[in-house]
Amino acid sequence: MTERALQRVLTGITTTGTLHLGNYVGAIRPAIRASREPGVESFLFLADYHALIKSDAPDRIEQSRMQIAATWLACGLDTERVTFYRQSDIPETPELTWLLTCVTAKGQMNRAHAYKAAADANTAAGEDIDANITMGLYSYPILMAADILLFNAHRVPVGKDQAQHIEMTRDVAQRFNHLFGRGQDLFVLPQAEIEENQELLPGLDGRKMSKSYDNAIPLFEGGAKGLKESVARIVTDSRLPGEAKDDNSHLVTIYDAFATPAQRTAFRTALRQGLGWGDAKQQLVDLIEAEIGPMREAYAQLMAHPEQVEEKLLAGAAKARAVAQPFIQTLRNAVGLRPMLAVPKAQAATVTTKQALPVFKQYREPDGRFYFKLNAADGTLLLQSEGLADGREAGAWVKRLKTEGAVALNDAPVQFTDRAAIEAALADLLVAAAKD
Ligand code: TRP
Repeated sequence: MTERALQRVLTGITTTGTLHLGNYVGAIRPAIRASREPGVESFLFLADYHALIKSDAPDRIEQSRMQIAATWLACGLDTERVTFYRQSDIPETPELTWLLTCVTAKGQMNRAHAYKAAADANTAAGEDIDANITMGLYSYPILMAADILLFNAHRVPVGKDQAQHIEMTRDVAQRFNHLFGRGQDLFVLPQAEIEENQELLPGLDGRKMSKSYDNAIPLFEGGAKGLKESVARIVTDSRLPGEAKDDNSHLVTIYDAFATPAQRTAFRTALRQGLGWGDAKQQLVDLIEAEIGPMREAYAQLMAHPEQVEEKLLAGAAKARAVAQPFIQTLRNAVGLRPMLAVPKAQAATVTTKQALPVFKQYREPDGRFYFKLNAADGTLLLQSEGLADGREAGAWVKRLKTEGAVALNDAPVQFTDRAAIEAALADLLVAAAKD
């Protein structure tokens, strides 16, 4: 694995439910800001295979995926900078999931939080320990490890509840490197970046904003009117207009999340001087609306044109697969899923020592024609081309022989005597290229 100067940052968003202001302040906005940092290469994807674990309602899966994609785009995600894609558009992900599954200890999966919580609840209820638990839930962390390792991410921003999954990812990556890396690291060991802030925004009642507490302010749903109605429901104390108010209300915390330092100071001063809660709420609505309003419009546009979202996601998938496709070949090769080319037994047995490789040479003769030849590592001539009028044609043949191996031999304008030796040499080149 060659060192990249760029740090690759990758994270996934499970596409279930709809989003509230806490998700925006805690996850979406910081991720979009972070993606603008120089020196990072950002991968962000919709974890829709993971969503299938949590829901078997196709229409809800479809709707949530669309809403969440449109939300991120509307909030300003720059798809030129960020590789933004759907997990389910990357077939290499389930493929890698299987390779990892085969080296994951079952006992370790028994201890994964999500599975363990469900199993413990069953036991407590006097049910069979695995009642209603799918293999999807059980294998959840392996799919997540594949998401991360397929792109060799260095950093993975996640909430606290996901820290264990990153530990498991490091663990399986290490085992895979050890088993199949032949002294090289196939996988980067990713670092979790725990986002403490994710839980900072309080909800209407002052507890953490969460759908399950029914205290959330929706991000776009309900429009400007919905926002105003939600803010009106923020619980405050009973001090009247004209009475001084301190800044330990959660209304102030929510205000702060959208305010500049100057606005924060001014708001506190006004409260101390007796600003009424009704007026304070109106100021809060105006402040949030100034940031969210234009995004809500962009969101409505995108929801009315799903094909634009689809197009962006497919472009993102193409970028992601440009990384994933060659890498999965390397990994297939590493575990022994190799093309069946004639690799002589003696060489196959000594693969651990780095062998010298055969070489292609291209050159021009005084007759003005272009030639190529293949020499064995010890210099023996294995294959000699005819003279070709065009240098690019010679180059194209070399490329085909290198990438397709012996199957390209039949059509190639070449002469040779020892076909078996050439097949072996081409196989060596293919395997070496796949390992690079
Ligand atoms: N499990 C993560 C969550 O629920 C989502 C996720 C899936 C993810 N694959 C990932 C996060 C890979 C980071 C990296 O939040």
